Amino acid sequence: MKDFSSTVNRIETKHLVVNQDYQKLLQDIKFDSFESIWQHRNGETIKNIKKRSVIRIEINQHNQKKMIYLKRHNIEFVGFSRLLSRFFSKYGLSQGRLEFENICDFRNSNLPTVVPIAAGEKLQHLFWAESFLITEDFHPYISLEAFLENQPQFFMDPTKKKVLLKEIASLARKMHKNGFNHRDFNATHVLFHYDNESDVPNIALFDLQRVERSRFFKFRWKIKSLARLNYSLPDDIFSAEDKLNIFLSYKSKKRLNPKDSLEWLWIKRKTAKIKRHTEKKLASNNERKL
Ligand SMILES: Nc1ncnc2c1ncn2[C@@H]1O[C@H](COP(=O)(O)OP(=O)(O)OP(=O)(O)O)[C@@H](O)[C@H]1O
Ligand SMILES: [Mg+2]
Repeated sequence: MKDFSSTVNRIETKHLVVNQDYQKLLQDIKFDSFESIWQHRNGETIKNIKKRSVIRIEINQHNQKKMIYLKRHNIEFVGFSRLLSRFFSKYGLSQGRLEFENICDFRNSNLPTVVPIAAGEKLQHLFWAESFLITEDFHPYISLEAFLENQPQFFMDPTKKKVLLKEIASLARKMHKNGFNHRDFNATHVLFHYDNESDVPNIALFDLQRVERSRFFKFRWKIKSLARLNYSLPDDIFSAEDKLNIFLSYKSKKRLNPKDSLEWLWIKRKTAKIKRHTEKKLASNNERKL
Protein backbone atom coordinates (compact mmCIF):
# COMPACT_ATOMS: atom_id res chain seq x y z
CA MET A 1 0.00 0.00 0.00
CA LYS A 2 1.32 3.44 -0.91
CA ASP A 3 2.28 5.67 1.96
CA PHE A 4 0.50 9.02 1.74
CA SER A 5 1.95 10.58 4.88
CA SER A 6 5.62 9.71 5.41
CA THR A 7 8.32 12.31 5.03
CA VAL A 8 10.34 12.37 1.81
CA ASN A 9 14.10 11.77 1.70
CA ARG A 10 15.38 13.85 -1.16
CA ILE A 11 18.46 13.99 -3.31
CA GLU A 12 19.23 17.28 -5.05
CA THR A 13 21.33 17.88 -8.11
CA LYS A 14 21.68 21.04 -10.18
CA HIS A 15 18.36 20.83 -12.02
CA LEU A 16 16.59 17.98 -10.22
CA VAL A 17 15.21 17.01 -6.85
CA VAL A 18 14.46 13.31 -6.50
CA ASN A 19 12.64 11.22 -3.91
CA GLN A 20 15.38 8.78 -2.81
CA ASP A 21 12.98 5.80 -2.86
CA TYR A 22 12.45 6.35 -6.60
CA GLN A 23 16.02 7.02 -7.67
CA LYS A 24 16.48 3.48 -9.03
CA LEU A 25 13.18 3.57 -10.92
CA LEU A 26 14.14 6.87 -12.57
CA GLN A 27 17.52 5.44 -13.57
CA ASP A 28 15.84 2.32 -15.03
CA ILE A 29 13.63 4.42 -17.29
CA LYS A 30 16.52 6.76 -18.17
CA PHE A 31 14.95 9.77 -16.49
CA ASP A 32 18.36 10.91 -15.33
CA SER A 33 18.56 14.57 -16.35
CA PHE A 34 16.26 17.56 -16.75
CA GLU A 35 16.40 17.22 -20.55
CA SER A 36 15.61 13.49 -20.63
CA ILE A 37 12.41 14.12 -18.67
CA TRP A 38 11.46 17.41 -20.33
CA GLN A 39 11.80 15.89 -23.82
CA HIS A 40 9.86 12.70 -23.00
CA ARG A 41 6.88 12.34 -25.35
CA ASN A 42 5.35 8.87 -24.79
CA GLY A 43 2.30 8.70 -22.58
CA GLU A 44 -1.39 9.42 -22.47
CA THR A 45 -2.25 13.11 -22.50
CA ILE A 46 -4.51 14.00 -19.59
CA LYS A 47 -4.37 17.74 -20.03
CA ASN A 48 -2.69 20.10 -22.46
CA ILE A 49 -3.11 23.85 -22.14
CA LYS A 50 -0.82 26.73 -23.04
CA LYS A 51 0.70 26.97 -19.56
CA ARG A 52 1.11 23.29 -18.74
CA SER A 53 0.44 19.68 -19.65
CA VAL A 54 -0.07 16.45 -17.76
CA ILE A 55 0.70 13.00 -19.19
CA ARG A 56 0.30 9.54 -17.70
CA ILE A 57 3.22 7.19 -18.31
CA GLU A 58 3.10 3.43 -17.90
CA ILE A 59 6.22 1.81 -16.53
CA ASN A 60 7.15 -1.84 -16.24
CA GLN A 61 9.22 -2.50 -13.14
CA HIS A 62 10.09 -6.09 -12.17
CA ASN A 63 7.19 -7.25 -14.37
CA GLN A 64 4.80 -5.00 -12.52
CA LYS A 65 2.96 -2.14 -14.13
CA LYS A 66 3.24 1.28 -12.50
CA MET A 67 1.66 4.55 -13.54
CA ILE A 68 3.32 7.89 -13.03
CA TYR A 69 2.13 11.41 -13.89
CA LEU A 70 4.37 14.02 -15.45
CA LYS A 71 3.14 17.62 -15.12
CA ARG A 72 5.20 20.02 -17.26
CA HIS A 73 5.03 23.79 -16.88
CA ASN A 74 5.98 25.70 -19.99
CA ILE A 75 8.23 28.69 -19.71
CA GLU A 76 7.16 31.11 -16.92
CA PHE A 77 8.54 34.31 -15.46
CA VAL A 78 10.04 33.64 -12.05
CA GLY A 79 11.18 37.21 -11.80
CA PHE A 80 13.26 39.13 -9.36
CA SER A 81 11.85 37.15 -6.45
CA ARG A 82 14.27 34.52 -7.69
CA LEU A 83 17.05 36.58 -6.20
CA LEU A 84 15.30 36.41 -2.84
CA SER A 85 15.40 32.61 -3.03
CA ARG A 86 18.99 32.87 -1.89
CA PHE A 87 17.69 34.12 1.45
CA PHE A 88 14.14 32.66 1.68
CA SER A 89 14.03 29.17 0.24
CA LYS A 90 10.49 29.17 -1.23
CA TYR A 91 10.70 32.52 -3.06
CA GLY A 92 10.89 32.50 -6.83
CA LEU A 93 10.56 28.74 -7.22
CA SER A 94 9.08 27.48 -10.47
CA GLN A 95 5.65 25.80 -10.37
CA GLY A 96 7.05 22.27 -10.61
CA ARG A 97 9.57 22.74 -7.81
CA LEU A 98 7.07 24.62 -5.67
CA GLU A 99 4.52 21.79 -5.85
CA PHE A 100 7.24 19.29 -4.88
CA GLU A 101 8.09 21.44 -1.84
CA ASN A 102 4.41 21.78 -0.92
CA ILE A 103 3.95 18.00 -1.08
CA CYS A 104 6.99 17.48 1.19
CA ASP A 105 5.78 20.15 3.64
CA PHE A 106 2.26 18.69 3.78
CA ARG A 107 3.80 15.32 4.60
CA ASN A 108 6.03 16.84 7.27
CA SER A 109 2.86 18.16 8.91
CA ASN A 110 1.20 14.75 8.62
CA LEU A 111 -1.25 15.98 5.98
CA PRO A 112 -1.75 13.06 3.56
CA THR A 113 -1.00 13.65 -0.11
CA VAL A 114 0.34 11.91 -3.23
CA VAL A 115 3.82 10.40 -3.54
CA PRO A 116 6.28 12.83 -5.15
CA ILE A 117 8.86 11.15 -7.38
CA ALA A 118 10.88 14.08 -8.74
CA ALA A 119 10.79 17.70 -9.81
CA GLY A 120 13.05 19.76 -11.97
CA GLU A 121 13.52 23.28 -13.15
CA LYS A 122 15.78 24.98 -15.60
CA LEU A 123 16.31 28.70 -15.78
CA GLN A 124 16.20 30.34 -19.19
CA HIS A 125 17.35 33.88 -19.91
CA LEU A 126 18.02 34.53 -16.20
CA PHE A 127 14.45 35.15 -14.97
CA TRP A 128 12.40 32.56 -16.87
CA ALA A 129 11.99 28.88 -16.00
CA GLU A 130 10.71 25.60 -17.39
CA SER A 131 9.78 23.04 -14.77
CA PHE A 132 8.07 19.74 -14.09
CA LEU A 133 6.76 17.50 -11.33
CA ILE A 134 6.43 13.70 -11.37
CA THR A 135 4.04 11.97 -8.97
CA GLU A 136 3.01 8.37 -8.59
CA ASP A 137 -0.56 7.43 -9.53
CA PHE A 138 -2.70 7.93 -6.42
CA HIS A 139 -4.57 4.63 -6.92
CA PRO A 140 -6.16 2.99 -4.80
CA TYR A 141 -7.29 6.43 -3.66
CA ILE A 142 -10.01 7.90 -5.83
CA SER A 143 -11.05 11.50 -6.26
CA LEU A 144 -14.41 12.47 -4.81
CA GLU A 145 -15.35 13.81 -8.24
CA ALA A 146 -14.65 10.48 -9.99
CA PHE A 147 -16.46 8.57 -7.26
CA LEU A 148 -19.52 10.82 -7.62
CA GLU A 149 -19.54 10.05 -11.32
CA ASN A 150 -18.98 6.29 -11.03
CA GLN A 151 -20.78 5.34 -7.84
CA PRO A 152 -23.45 7.94 -7.00
CA GLN A 153 -25.48 5.18 -5.26
CA PHE A 154 -22.89 5.18 -2.43
CA PHE A 155 -24.27 8.53 -1.32
CA MET A 156 -27.78 7.10 -0.84
CA ASP A 157 -26.52 5.75 2.48
CA PRO A 158 -26.82 8.77 4.82
CA THR A 159 -24.37 7.40 7.41
CA LYS A 160 -21.61 6.69 4.89
CA LYS A 161 -22.12 10.09 3.34
CA LYS A 162 -22.00 11.83 6.74
CA VAL A 163 -18.80 10.04 7.83
CA LEU A 164 -17.07 10.81 4.53
CA LEU A 165 -17.99 14.52 4.69
CA LYS A 166 -16.91 14.68 8.33
CA GLU A 167 -13.45 13.31 7.49
CA ILE A 168 -13.04 15.75 4.59
CA ALA A 169 -13.99 18.66 6.85
CA SER A 170 -11.55 17.47 9.53
CA LEU A 171 -8.70 17.38 7.04
CA ALA A 172 -9.56 20.92 5.92
CA ARG A 173 -9.41 22.10 9.52
CA LYS A 174 -6.13 20.29 10.17
CA MET A 175 -4.62 21.79 7.00
CA HIS A 176 -5.60 25.33 8.03
CA LYS A 177 -4.41 24.79 11.62
CA ASN A 178 -1.03 23.73 10.25
CA GLY A 179 -0.74 26.98 8.31
CA PHE A 180 -1.59 25.77 4.80
CA ASN A 181 -4.44 26.60 2.44
CA HIS A 182 -4.96 24.48 -0.69
CA ARG A 183 -6.71 27.24 -2.73
CA ASP A 184 -8.36 24.66 -5.00
CA PHE A 185 -10.22 22.71 -2.33
CA ASN A 186 -12.88 20.94 -4.36
CA ALA A 187 -14.22 17.45 -5.19
CA THR A 188 -11.54 16.96 -7.90
CA HIS A 189 -8.66 17.39 -5.49
CA VAL A 190 -10.08 15.53 -2.48
CA LEU A 191 -9.04 11.85 -2.52
CA PHE A 192 -10.22 9.04 -0.30
CA HIS A 193 -9.80 5.33 0.32
CA TYR A 194 -11.27 2.76 2.75
CA ASP A 195 -8.77 0.38 4.42
CA ASN A 196 -9.93 -3.24 4.84
CA GLU A 197 -13.64 -2.89 5.47
CA SER A 198 -13.19 0.19 7.66
CA ASP A 199 -16.21 2.53 7.73
CA VAL A 200 -13.99 5.58 8.12
CA PRO A 201 -12.16 6.64 4.96
CA ASN A 202 -8.60 7.94 4.73
CA ILE A 203 -8.62 11.35 3.09
CA ALA A 204 -5.79 12.92 1.09
CA LEU A 205 -5.32 15.95 -1.15
CA PHE A 206 -3.45 16.44 -4.40
CA ASP A 207 -2.61 19.21 -6.90
CA LEU A 208 -0.72 21.31 -4.35
CA GLN A 209 0.51 23.79 -6.90
CA ARG A 210 -1.33 26.81 -5.53
CA VAL A 211 -0.94 26.20 -1.79
CA GLU A 212 -0.55 29.37 0.29
CA ARG A 213 0.93 29.55 3.76
CA SER A 214 0.63 31.66 6.83
CA ARG A 215 1.84 31.25 10.38
CA PHE A 216 -1.46 32.71 11.56
CA PHE A 217 -4.87 31.19 11.01
CA LYS A 218 -6.63 33.08 8.22
CA PHE A 219 -10.37 33.52 8.63
CA ARG A 220 -10.93 33.82 4.87
CA TRP A 221 -9.34 30.40 4.21
CA LYS A 222 -12.26 28.73 5.93
CA ILE A 223 -14.86 30.74 3.98
CA LYS A 224 -13.22 30.21 0.59
CA SER A 225 -12.34 26.53 1.05
CA LEU A 226 -15.76 25.48 2.29
CA ALA A 227 -17.48 27.56 -0.41
CA ARG A 228 -15.35 25.93 -3.13
CA LEU A 229 -16.05 22.48 -1.74
CA ASN A 230 -19.80 23.16 -1.48
CA TYR A 231 -19.93 24.44 -5.03
CA SER A 232 -18.27 21.24 -6.29
CA LEU A 233 -20.83 19.00 -4.52
CA PRO A 234 -23.89 18.51 -6.76
CA ASP A 235 -27.18 19.68 -5.24
CA ASP A 236 -29.06 16.53 -6.28
CA ILE A 237 -26.75 14.39 -4.11
CA PHE A 238 -25.83 16.79 -1.29
CA SER A 239 -28.62 18.57 0.55
CA ALA A 240 -28.35 21.91 2.35
CA GLU A 241 -28.18 19.87 5.59
CA ASP A 242 -25.18 17.84 4.28
CA LYS A 243 -23.36 21.08 3.51
CA LEU A 244 -24.19 22.51 6.92
CA ASN A 245 -22.81 19.27 8.45
CA ILE A 246 -19.51 19.88 6.67
CA PHE A 247 -19.29 23.28 8.34
CA LEU A 248 -20.24 21.83 11.75
CA SER A 249 -17.59 19.10 11.37
CA TYR A 250 -15.03 21.70 10.36
CA LYS A 251 -15.86 23.60 13.56
CA SER A 252 -16.13 20.37 15.58
CA LYS A 253 -19.51 21.51 16.86
CA LYS A 254 -23.03 20.10 17.13
CA ARG A 255 -24.84 23.39 16.54
CA LEU A 256 -24.11 26.94 15.45
CA ASN A 257 -23.78 29.90 17.80
CA PRO A 258 -24.63 33.41 16.45
CA LYS A 259 -21.05 34.01 15.25
CA ASP A 260 -21.01 30.63 13.45
CA SER A 261 -24.38 31.45 11.83
CA LEU A 262 -22.87 34.61 10.42
CA GLU A 263 -19.90 32.66 9.04
CA TRP A 264 -22.25 30.08 7.55
CA LEU A 265 -24.20 32.85 5.83
CA TRP A 266 -20.91 34.20 4.47
CA ILE A 267 -19.94 30.75 3.13
CA LYS A 268 -23.31 30.39 1.40
CA ARG A 269 -22.93 33.85 -0.19
CA LYS A 270 -19.43 32.98 -1.35
CA THR A 271 -20.69 29.68 -2.83
CA ALA A 272 -23.37 31.57 -4.78
CA LYS A 273 -20.72 34.04 -5.99
CA ILE A 274 -18.46 31.22 -7.23
CA LYS A 275 -21.47 29.70 -9.02
CA ARG A 276 -22.34 33.00 -10.76
CA HIS A 277 -18.72 33.63 -11.70
CA THR A 278 -18.17 30.08 -13.08
CA GLU A 279 -21.39 30.12 -15.07
CA LYS A 280 -20.54 33.50 -16.58
CA LYS A 281 -17.08 32.26 -17.56
CA LEU A 282 -18.50 29.08 -19.10
CA ALA A 283 -21.09 31.07 -21.07
CA SER A 284 -18.47 33.45 -22.47
CA ASN A 285 -16.18 30.51 -23.38
CA ASN A 286 -19.08 28.84 -25.21
CA GLU A 287 -19.90 32.08 -27.04
CA ARG A 288 -16.31 32.36 -28.19
CA LYS A 289 -16.43 28.80 -29.54
CA LEU A 290 -19.57 29.54 -31.68
N1 LIG B 1 -0.59 11.42 -9.15
C1 LIG B 1 -1.72 11.35 -9.86
N2 LIG B 1 -2.49 10.22 -9.81
C2 LIG B 1 -3.64 10.14 -10.55
N3 LIG B 1 -4.09 11.13 -11.36
C3 LIG B 1 -3.37 12.25 -11.46
C4 LIG B 1 -2.15 12.44 -10.71
N4 LIG B 1 -1.65 13.65 -11.02
C5 LIG B 1 -2.50 14.20 -11.92
N5 LIG B 1 -3.53 13.38 -12.19
C6 LIG B 1 -4.65 13.61 -13.13
O1 LIG B 1 -4.34 14.72 -13.94
C7 LIG B 1 -5.29 15.80 -13.71
C8 LIG B 1 -4.56 17.14 -13.75
O2 LIG B 1 -3.56 17.16 -12.71
P1 LIG B 1 -3.45 18.39 -11.72
O3 LIG B 1 -4.76 18.61 -11.04
O4 LIG B 1 -2.26 18.18 -10.86
O5 LIG B 1 -3.13 19.52 -12.77
P2 LIG B 1 -3.70 20.99 -12.94
O6 LIG B 1 -3.31 21.43 -14.29
O7 LIG B 1 -3.21 21.78 -11.82
O8 LIG B 1 -5.22 20.86 -12.84
P3 LIG B 1 -6.31 22.02 -12.65
O9 LIG B 1 -5.64 23.35 -12.79
O10 LIG B 1 -7.26 21.71 -13.75
O11 LIG B 1 -6.84 21.72 -11.31
C9 LIG B 1 -5.94 15.48 -12.38
O12 LIG B 1 -7.23 16.00 -12.25
C10 LIG B 1 -5.92 13.96 -12.38
O13 LIG B 1 -7.01 13.45 -13.14
MG1 LIG C 1 -6.00 20.06 -10.69
